[in-house]
Amino acid sequence: MEPELFTWEFATDPYPAYAWLREHSPVHRTTLPSGVEAWLVTRYADAKQALADPRLSKNPAHHAKDAHGKNRTGIPGERGANLMTHLLNIDPPDHTRLRRLVSKAFTPRRIAEFEPRVQELTDRLIDGFAETGRADLIHDFAFPLPIHAICDLLGVPAEDQDDFREWAGMMIRHGGGPRGGVARSVKRIRAYLAELIHRKRELLPEVPGPGEDLISGLIRASDHGEHLTENEAAAMCFVLLFAGFETTINLIGNGTYALLRNPDQLARLLGSLADGADGGQELLDTGIEELLRYDGPVELATWRYATEPLHIGGRAVATGDPVLVVLAAADRDPARFDDPDTLDLSRRDNQHLGYGHGIHYCIGAPLARLEGRTALATLLRRLPDLRLAADPEELRWRGGLIMRGLRNLPVEFTPP
Ligand code: HEM
Repeated sequence: MEPELFTWEFATDPYPAYAWLREHSPVHRTTLPSGVEAWLVTRYADAKQALADPRLSKNPAHHAKDAHGKNRTGIPGERGANLMTHLLNIDPPDHTRLRRLVSKAFTPRRIAEFEPRVQELTDRLIDGFAETGRADLIHDFAFPLPIHAICDLLGVPAEDQDDFREWAGMMIRHGGGPRGGVARSVKRIRAYLAELIHRKRELLPEVPGPGEDLISGLIRASDHGEHLTENEAAAMCFVLLFAGFETTINLIGNGTYALLRNPDQLARLLGSLADGADGGQELLDTGIEELLRYDGPVELATWRYATEPLHIGGRAVATGDPVLVVLAAADRDPARFDDPDTLDLSRRDNQHLGYGHGIHYCIGAPLARLEGRTALATLLRRLPDLRLAADPEELRWRGGLIMRGLRNLPVEFTPP
């Protein structure tokens, strides 16, 4: 029987519904809770192809309008020039130009240099609850870590980071989109970022110093003499901040939960971290990828819209139709992964779609990997008898249309 989507049960465990869709209706027409009609793409091969299909645009202006001429996604289209005209809402050639500029500033070297800071933040957060023997790993750990990490990397001064924590909390609780309190938060972030970028531009030294922050790097980046405009720089900071918050919270939250529910895999990782010749690095690296595949933070890649009539998996998609690629369903496709519902931290053949695919592939993946690795390794090294302190039935999931993650994760352990 066709499963009900977007219910409470679905948010708690969407995988049985995804298995049904993959088998019976792999490209599925559905009505989203907002009333918008959209296609869900659930098989790995179709998903990968759709993510790289240039006929599917990221620009919400391509969404078919309703009878009143309104774009019904709730995402502002062209009129919304401001923070929303960022990488995830634009197509080439603008996307190509902006992505090239940000890649010049957001380099693997900058991320590698940031490792000690992520370690320090992680240890400080664990220090905050280690003595008590209990914690809510979402509230006390997974939530603050990515916010402070990305703020530090961008160069948001420490005294302003609590404001970001509040704004981010508001956006996550109310699920993105420019509505109500969220609209107010976006407005405050816009004003704040404009001012910060302006100040950094004024103070920018001629030659970059060691450990220069990312905003200064963005201001400095140029391509054939072209620089980011102030608005583009602000929208870029906004997408880096917000694409990196909830995703990384969910990587740490969903990932730790998956380990606690799979004691054999947890024991393997603990053993490898304690006694492995490489300090557990190899299993940690393959393990983070497997946790992303098994229960990744991003349920659906963000919206795409057909710019011309096309077929996906044999179904006819009309111009203007929204297409949602269900990464979480694709990553459990038995046609692609052996034993897909089993968590295997040393899985080798693991080209999951958790970070997307094609030109919008996650630019923050190296930072997310660094944070995920550091968070899990430090947590397990310092609190090796970490265990769940609640019945799994009592846990609440935040199921959105884009992200899926735990609202709370109570744990207990022996204080070190
Ligand atoms: C894009 C996942 C962390 C910044 C994406 C996409 C996915 C994704 C699936 C592609 C969306 C699409 O094609 O529609 C994740 C996951 C993360 C993570 C699972 C954590 C585990 C981060 C972090 C940052 C970040 C930490 C920033 C520092 C971005 C940006 C894009 C993006 C800017 C847009 C790239 C473009 O459109 O060219 N991410 N992300 N992400 N991500 Fe991430």
